[in-house]
Amino acid sequence: MANPTHPTTPLALCVTTDDFEAAAKEVLPEKAWVYVSSSAASGLSLKANLDDWPRINFRPRIMSVSSLDTRRSVLGQMASLPFFVSAMGTLGNAHPGAEPLLVRGATRKGLHTVISTATSKPLENIMNAYHEEQSHLGHQSPSRLCFQLYVPIDRTKARSLIQRVKAAGYQSLWVTVDTSTLGKRTADRYLQARESLDQGGREEVTEAAAENDYGPAFGGRPVPGYLDPGLNWEDLAWIKQEWSGPIVLKGIQTVEDVKMAVQHGVQGVLLSNHGGRQIHSAPSALMTLLEIRTYYPEAFDKLEVFVDGGLRDGADVLKALCLGATAVGVGRPYFYAMAAYGQEGVERCTDILAEEVEITMKMLGVASLDQLRPDMVNATRLLNEMWRPDAFRPRL
Ligand SMILES: Cc1cc2nc3c(=O)[nH]c(=O)nc-3n(C[C@H](O)[C@H](O)[C@H](O)COP(=O)(O)O)c2cc1C
Repeated sequence: MANPTHPTTPLALCVTTDDFEAAAKEVLPEKAWVYVSSSAASGLSLKANLDDWPRINFRPRIMSVSSLDTRRSVLGQMASLPFFVSAMGTLGNAHPGAEPLLVRGATRKGLHTVISTATSKPLENIMNAYHEEQSHLGHQSPSRLCFQLYVPIDRTKARSLIQRVKAAGYQSLWVTVDTSTLGKRTADRYLQARESLDQGGREEVTEAAAENDYGPAFGGRPVPGYLDPGLNWEDLAWIKQEWSGPIVLKGIQTVEDVKMAVQHGVQGVLLSNHGGRQIHSAPSALMTLLEIRTYYPEAFDKLEVFVDGGLRDGADVLKALCLGATAVGVGRPYFYAMAAYGQEGVERCTDILAEEVEITMKMLGVASLDQLRPDMVNATRLLNEMWRPDAFRPRL
């Protein structure tokens, strides 16, 4: 039976970001649903992301807050809110409007968006949609578009992709560093096996999407020959030469690698386990943030620290900011919202998170985001489970 085009739940009944998930499941074809909802192996990495945010409590300070400022500067560009849309590939799987539609919704709400290398539409068309929306809004939106880079194995191709991104006017480059190979997406493996059995055992070969010659994976399936297992720190030198703007390394999961990132002079790191889609049993993004806060707090003065993975509530955003994050990324809720309700869904998802940010700020007793401090959260439960540098050193 074909999927319905509209979810049975009216948009008005979406009150939390989780509400979009059920609505998206109703409308998405199975393959697209599996693509977005799946994670690596038994799902532990995704579960850790989701489970860890609620394990931190606030320590709210009393007394009223009469005015609120939720703006946050990301790599020199002010956004209306301290969160952005994380890079997600093949958004055409969510909605035929794909990336341009997402960008229009985000621009209306003053959010920055990170556009994936594996887009459904050409990166220039996405930038055009952004400019069109800006002109509708009288160029008043602080939103900017950033570009997530999967570095192609072929370096000539890599350089030309960076040049295209630059010429199109993207503001910053987010180089994904956790994808030397694609994680084992269990739900997709079952689906592939079923498809193959249905086709009498023939293997499906994933072709690059017609409009994108750079994506290393489409719909969660690798395009042979695209993912570079050899990407390393030395590659940053030529990437910097090609790209003169800010660079963020996406997918950092340890304090040691944050130190390396500082030594290599990048402008930001995105602490992320790729939404639980890459390595099995990864640290949650929040646990990595705590590791940096504990063992290398100087990092927060040397580069901008971003976090994504499992953020579903505006309160989670503020927990990350208390611990020193500049801003946080939100992935699946936007995919689900867009799949179920198109641009209106994107805007409502933003409104939900924005309201939660505002409510929580008021009750925390902070008028602006720069007043958030580590002593406003109690992270003891997670700190008890955090990695310890001396764990395996012999003790007498
Ligand atoms: C459907 C989907 C597609 C994704 N595609 C990409 C991608 O193309 N490049 C990338 O660096 N990360 C990609 N990610 C990871 C996200 O950028 C982000 O790290 C993750 O979604 C954050 O977790 P959350 O979904 O729990 O918010 C993808 C995630 C999802 C759910």
